[in-house]
Amino acid sequence: EKGGYDYFMLKEIAEQPKAVSDTLLGRIDGSGSLTLDEVRIPPGVLREVDKVVIVACGTAFHAGLIAKYAIEHWTRIPCEVELASEFRYRDPILDQRTLVVAISQSGETMDTLMALRHAREQGAKVLAICNTNGSTIPRESDAVLYTHAGPEVAVASTKAFLTQLVACYLVALYLGQVRGTKFGDEIRDVVRDLSGVSDAVGRVLETMEPVRELARSLAHKDTVLFLGRHVGYPVALEGALKLKELAYMHAEGFAAGELKHGPIALIEEDLPVVVVVPSPRGRSVLHDKIVSNIQEIRARGARTIVIAEENDEAVAPYADHLIRVPATPTLLQPLVATVPLQVFACELATARGNEVDQPRNLAKSVTVE
Ligand code: F6R
Repeated sequence: EKGGYDYFMLKEIAEQPKAVSDTLLGRIDGSGSLTLDEVRIPPGVLREVDKVVIVACGTAFHAGLIAKYAIEHWTRIPCEVELASEFRYRDPILDQRTLVVAISQSGETMDTLMALRHAREQGAKVLAICNTNGSTIPRESDAVLYTHAGPEVAVASTKAFLTQLVACYLVALYLGQVRGTKFGDEIRDVVRDLSGVSDAVGRVLETMEPVRELARSLAHKDTVLFLGRHVGYPVALEGALKLKELAYMHAEGFAAGELKHGPIALIEEDLPVVVVVPSPRGRSVLHDKIVSNIQEIRARGARTIVIAEENDEAVAPYADHLIRVPATPTLLQPLVATVPLQVFACELATARGNEVDQPRNLAKSVTVE
C-alpha cells in the first residue's frame, strides 16, 4: 500500500503533482472561469462579505497564512488568520458579513471545529476547506470545498498542504469573480498559472537528490533556522514545523525582515539557515531585500541554504547550497518552494533514525482540545 516507497510520507510527497491537478479538476470551465458549485453560499451573501477570517491549526494554519496574501491582493477584502485554539477564547468580532474559512485535512480537529461552531453562533458563514469527505467540520459548515489529495496517512502533512493552498487560491479567485474585483482575463491568467503548477511540482521532485544529500550531512546538527518574506514567510514556518515534528530538531521560522530585531543574534559559525527567496521578477524589492539578508547572515558565519527560482543569478554568490525551483508568480511560489523542505525534513528524520510516518507524541488527527 506504500506503492514501493519506504514510507507513506515519501509516497504522499510524490503524489503531489496529481493531488494539485485533482484539486483543480472540474472547478474551471472552458472559458477559464471558476465553477465552485460546492460553495453553496449564495453569491449575494459573498458579495456582502466585509471580512474573511481563516481558522486552522498546524500546517493548515500555514496554508491560511499564505491565503491571506492572495485573498487581500485579489479581492481587497481584509483577511485575518488565526490559530483555531486562540480564536475562540478571545471573543472575536464576527457577524453576518464575516466569512470564516476553516481549513482542516482531517475535518476532525477539535480546536478548528470549536472555532467554527463559535463563528456560526455569531452569525458568520463558514466555508470549510477539507480533505475528508463527510467529516465533522464540513458537515457543520455552510459550505465545503474539498481538497482532492486522497487519503493522507503519514502524520506529517504534505500533499494535503499543497491542495489546501490550491483550494485557498480558488476561494480567493472565486470571491474576486463573484464580487467583480477580479475580472475574467485576470482570473484566467492566474488559473492558467495554477494549472501549470502540477508540472512544476513534478519538476521539483525530479531534482531532490542534492537536497537529500544535504539533509544527511546535517543530521548531527541541533538547530536549523528558516527565513522568508511575504508568502515565503509561512513557507519558512512550515519548513521549520516539518523539521521539528520529523527530525525532532530545534527549528524556527522567521520573517526575514525581523532578523535585525532579534533573531540575527542566533547566527553563529556553520549554523544552517534555509532562506526562501521570492521571484526576482515581479516584486523585485522583496527579492533585493532578502538577498541582503542572506549576505548579512553569511557574513556572520551562517551556512546558507537558498531556495530560489531557476535563473535567479543574484543569489548564487551567497548560497552555500542552492536549491532551484521553477519560476512561478510570486503568490503561487509556496506550491513549489515547500516541496524541498518536505523532502529535507523527511530525509533528516530518516538519517536520525526516526520513525517518519509516526513521529513520537503526535497523532494524525487531534480530536481533543
Ligand atoms: C503537521 C500536521 C499538523 C496538522 C494539524 C491540523 O504536519 O500534520 O500540524 O496540520 O494538526 O490538522 P487538520 O488539518 O487535520 O485539521
